[in-house]
Order: sequence, then C-alpha cells, then structure tokens
Amino acid sequence: MFPYKTSFLLKRNTSQALYLQLSNQFITLIKNNTLPSNTKLPGSRVLAEMLNVHRKTVVACYEELLLQGWIVSIPKKGTFVNTDLPLLHYQKSTNDIVKSIKSKANFSFKKSKILERKTFPELTNFTVINDGVSDHRLTPIDDIARTYRRIASKKSTIEQLTYKSTYGNIRLREALVSYLNETRGLQITIDNILITRGSQMGIFLTAILLFKKDDLVVVGETNYIAADVTFSQSKAKILRVPVDENGLNTDAIEKICKKKRIKAVFVTSHHHHPTTVTLSAKRRIHLLNLSKLYNFAIIEDDYDYDFNYNHAPILPLSSHDSLGNVIYLGSVCKTVAPVFRIGYLIAPKDFVDEAAKHRRYIDRQGDALLELTFAEFIKSGDLDRHIKKVLKIYRQRRDLFCKLMTEELSAYFSFEVPKGGMAVWTILDKKYTWKQVSETAKRHQLEIGDWERYDLANNNHNAIRIGFASYTEDEIIELVKKLKQTMNSLDFL
Ligand SMILES: Cc1ncc(COP(=O)(O)O)c(C=O)c1O
Repeated sequence: MFPYKTSFLLKRNTSQALYLQLSNQFITLIKNNTLPSNTKLPGSRVLAEMLNVHRKTVVACYEELLLQGWIVSIPKKGTFVNTDLPLLHYQKSTNDIVKSIKSKANFSFKKSKILERKTFPELTNFTVINDGVSDHRLTPIDDIARTYRRIASKKSTIEQLTYKSTYGNIRLREALVSYLNETRGLQITIDNILITRGSQMGIFLTAILLFKKDDLVVVGETNYIAADVTFSQSKAKILRVPVDENGLNTDAIEKICKKKRIKAVFVTSHHHHPTTVTLSAKRRIHLLNLSKLYNFAIIEDDYDYDFNYNHAPILPLSSHDSLGNVIYLGSVCKTVAPVFRIGYLIAPKDFVDEAAKHRRYIDRQGDALLELTFAEFIKSGDLDRHIKKVLKIYRQRRDLFCKLMTEELSAYFSFEVPKGGMAVWTILDKKYTWKQVSETAKRHQLEIGDWERYDLANNNHNAIRIGFASYTEDEIIELVKKLKQTMNSLDFL
C-alpha cells in the first residue's frame, strides 16, 4: 500500500488551510504518477487517522479533488484516481520541473540583442557613478503619503477604483494642462494629453505609432541610448547628426531632408542627452521650420525641464508649435522620484487618441490613486516648492563637484560646467581609456558603470556622464577622492 504518512507534509502554522495543503500534495502525487490512474484512495476515516488530522479535513480535501476532476467517487466501491487523466510527459520529479521552469522555456520566443544592457551588482562601500538621477532621499514622501491617504479615505474616491479612461485620470490631466500651459508656455487642452508611466512609455508609444520598417529617424551623435533602442525595436532606421555646443546640428538635418524623407527627429532640447548642451534659439526655430516644410514629427523629450541653475527654464519647442509637429514628453520621475511613474505625452488630438488606443494594451488602467495624488500635489503648489528646494541643493552639488574636479583632476578630465540637469559630460584625456579607468576604479570601491553606452558608434570622444545630483556633499568629496586615487594608480602602472 502507498505509504501515505510519509508522502504528506502538513504545516499547521501557515495561512493555507490543511485541506488545501493536502489536496495540493495529492495533485502533485497524481501528476507525477506516484498515484497512478485508478489507484484506490483510503477512506476518509483511515487517512485522517494516518495523518493525525480531523476527518473533516480529509473529506474537504477529497471534495476539492473531486471538484477539480483529479479523483472520482464510485458508489459502494470507493474513491479512485481518475482514469481519464492523460499522463503528464517528461517529468521525473517535482524538483526537475521546478528547475527547468526556472532556467529555460520549452518554446521559442523572440530575443533581441539590442535590448541587452549591462547590470552591476550592488556592493557595499562602493560609490556607483550614475548618469544623472535625482537624490531619492530628498523625495517629499511624507507630503505625498499624506495626500495619498487623504484621497484614498474620501468617499468619492471609490469611483476611481474601477476601470476608467485609457487617457489617464481626468483630474491629473486637467491639473497638468493648466500647469504645463503656465510653466512651459504650451497652449494645450485636455484633448492633447495622455498620461503615461514616465517619459520612456511616451517614447515607446510614439515609436509604435510613427515607425514602419526602415522609416528614418534622426537623432544626435551621441544620443540617449534608450531612445535609440526603442526606435530600433520599432524597426526604424537611425540617422545621426552631429551635436555641438548649440545642440543638434540642424543644417545637417536639412541636408538629409533634401535627399531623403525622414519620419521624425528625436531631441532632448533642454539639455541634450548625454552632452547636456541646450539647443540654441536659432536651431530651435530652424528645426521647427524644417518639420513644417518636410512634414516630420519632432519627438521632444523634456526629461529634466525643471533643473536650470543659471537662468529660468527655456520654453520647449512644443510651446512654439503652431502646426502640430511636436510630440512633447515629460514626467515627474526625475523631478520627484523615479518610482512615481507619472508622465505625459502631449500632441495633436488625433495622435493622442491613437496613443490612448495603444496604451489600452500595455496599461489598461494606470494608477488612478497615484494620479489623483499628483493632481493634488501639483495644484497645491507642493510640486513647485519641492522643485525650488532641490534646485538649490543640486546647484550646490553641481558647484562643489565641478570645483573639486577642476582642483583635483583637471590633469585627467575636462568638462563644461552644465547650466542645468543632473550630470556633467566628462571628457577623459586621450592618454587614458574608460576601460582602464573602470577596471582600476573597482580597486578603489568606485563603480564607473556602463561607460560603453556613450560611444556605441565608436567615435572615440572618450566622454561619459557623471551624475552629481544624487550625492550629498560628503559623498561628492568621497567620489572625487576615489576617482583621484584611481587616476593616480593608473599613472603608476
Ligand atoms: C533623456 C531621458 N529620457 C527619458 C528618460 C526616462 O525617464 P522616465 O523615468 O520618466 O521614464 C530618461 C531617464 O533617465 C532620460 O535620461
């Protein structure tokens, strides 16, 4: 007879009812053929005694198994493993199944080389260089949590807990329409805005809507790598134009337009990613004129609009767009914290309508409570107060970082002090390579990160972004010290 007693492991101090534990373990025994088809199961009283459980537990377990079709009950004969069950192929033991599920799919699927990105283990005592992110420790989490709690406890909020518009929460859209019209000089209505989970989702939706295979998109050399990857995934062909101290070279774009039909230009006009320069007024107008003349879309990614240290933020291209050529993307993810996935896509109504249709299939609902929270956060002035506060801190951090880099490391690195943003485009003297620096840095508990992503076209500009905003002043001192130790050790090699 089957040794029931040793086949079951029932835990009394878990939240799963005993009868369910028992039925799940029966199912495993049936699936792996330890209990073959037509095996007679012991009567409920006998099994209850064997396993030292209440008879009702076994009765409930058998009812569950009957309901699910694993066993059948034949009057006056007993309870048997269902003879109708096909044998489950290729499994030897439960362990084998778990192992194979974890490592490799038993079906083919599309894998894309271009999606591969380097990741780095988190090491204690290491300083990790980032490409310019906000300091999450400055997030006004108490204010946000208070607003969230207040909204969640309102009776009327119940209405927000079900499926609603695929354009995003109406109150957030209204709040953003007036906020963006006021702060960025846009002239949009509620019809021009779609809520996204961050700017990246805006780039993704835009790429899906714009590109067919081999459509041409113009980007800067170099460019924000995630945009390049998104466009390539959409099968667009990327053409690169130079970037100098005035941003994208629009004459080069015009030259391309005279020969080829381009579908879009991607631009981080405020602070070019990665070099941090601002697109000049002359080139802004030139680009807008070209887009009208040659009917292409301008994808304006305004990922760090709020962070300008020397002057007021420059109005986006979108604010001068009278014919409907600009798709404007932004979010609070850099401004408040990356974890709050609240972004927006601003465009002509027909484009927004189509983007909302696509959003349905990747994000049917969005996070209405968080969206309402941010609507309040914006309307109450909390967002502006937060920006004012962190802007001051980030300016001090930029100044300290640039001062120390000049005082301590000018023999190795050159850079322009960025007027805004959260990173310095740091050029390494050509006597050295980032590969050497990166390898040596590890010995000094410094992780340079994915430096290769800044020069995928092998232009040998020898520069990477070094973020400054996310480090306190002490951490900046530590970072520069480690970088100096790294460079000194390289000199001794
Ligand atoms: C240039 C640029 N665009 C877009 C994004 C994506 O931002 P979000 O977190 O809003 O999706 C980033 C994030 O680093 C960025 O640097």
